[in-house]
Amino acid sequence: MIFSRTTSLKGTVTVPGDKSISHRSVMFGALAEGTTRVTNFLQGADCLSTINCFQKLGIRIENQENELLIHGKGLHGLNAPTEILDMGNSGTTTRLICGILAGQTFSSELNGDQSIQNRPMKRIMEPLSQMGARIESIHGNGCAPLRIQGASLHGIHYVSEVASAQVKSCILLAGLYADGPTSVTEPNLSRNHSELMLKHFGASLKSEGTTATIFPEPKLYAQEIQVPGDISSAAYFITAGLVIPGSEILIKHVGVNPTRDGILKVCKEMGADLTLQNENHGNGEPTADILVRYSSLKGITIGGSVIPALIDELPVIAVLACFAEGTTIIRDAQELKVKESNRIDVMVKNLSAMGAHITATEDGMIIEGGYPLHGAVIDSRLDHRIAMSFAVAALAADGETKITDADCVRISYPAFYEDLKKLCHG
Ligand code: S3P
Repeated sequence: MIFSRTTSLKGTVTVPGDKSISHRSVMFGALAEGTTRVTNFLQGADCLSTINCFQKLGIRIENQENELLIHGKGLHGLNAPTEILDMGNSGTTTRLICGILAGQTFSSELNGDQSIQNRPMKRIMEPLSQMGARIESIHGNGCAPLRIQGASLHGIHYVSEVASAQVKSCILLAGLYADGPTSVTEPNLSRNHSELMLKHFGASLKSEGTTATIFPEPKLYAQEIQVPGDISSAAYFITAGLVIPGSEILIKHVGVNPTRDGILKVCKEMGADLTLQNENHGNGEPTADILVRYSSLKGITIGGSVIPALIDELPVIAVLACFAEGTTIIRDAQELKVKESNRIDVMVKNLSAMGAHITATEDGMIIEGGYPLHGAVIDSRLDHRIAMSFAVAALAADGETKITDADCVRISYPAFYEDLKKLCHG
């Protein structure tokens, strides 16, 4: 797909539902008693993979135009799958479902695409095994395909080396099936959607600092869930609005959970003109409209406890940093290497091709801002967040930019290019 410079972005955009919350609504709905009704569910390929897996586990799910209905069968209502469960490209589906499958009375096998078959699964195999689970990597390389034989599980206190909501959620879900309390402590707090939503479904759970503890509960109960807009999708419009002169964009109804809003904090520290309107603290997942205006930005250092709160936004933050005056240092972000692609490597290679002054470090990137970008051929490596980041970079660059496999945005934001185009005025 070909992109070229635009003069300004103006207007209002509503981003699709949050990916993390959409996945969890299907999973928890499947394990609850009764029908869970979800509105603004993200119809992205990753969340469709989750729906597909739970259908194969015997859950009736109606994906209608305006709502998703999940006819839950309770914690012990899943059926043994008759075929290999297909995770597609979705790390969240893979890691969370393992926590659920570990506590069943049947065996299952799961696999996914090339990217999934390279993503580290030892980080969940290790704590699940400590709980008594029988989970193996079929090729013995710590990655999918995985085989899980249901087992009786014990409560543990797991101290995780990585701040990962997927690891934490996997362990908490296994904890629903354990014989006693299960705790996870992480080095920094990762997104807490599982904790919030599990409580909403009636689970007994407490969070203290970076430790979450779940107590086995005989039942979860169906809920109504309104999925807020995904701040990770809003990040592309925030960046475009900040770096393209004359822009002013209102992004409606975005989830601004404090464990996810690192990009807002970082942008403000860089000098961005961002205003939150219509703030709503509703049902545990706060939302707001975000007004973005073109701003002159300065480079900063991004690291430490904010990293899990903006981990998926770091590719587009690297683009943002190219337009800031001075140096931006991103550190403590080695997790970027094990996402859908090695996002340190792919950002440095592609931004360098556009003329940016960027170097890779062991745990992040260093970007010297203020050097104009020019068009280039960008290899998305089938990573949705890379494709979207470079679509934004291309709108602020001289000449033409070609993004390969640009349609990989279907993973998290199928209508991304249409929505971006609607805001372009030149
Ligand atoms: C997610 C957690 C994050 C994030 C991913 C979604 C989730 O991954 O990068 O896109 O929904 O739990 P980690 O748990 O690996 O940090």
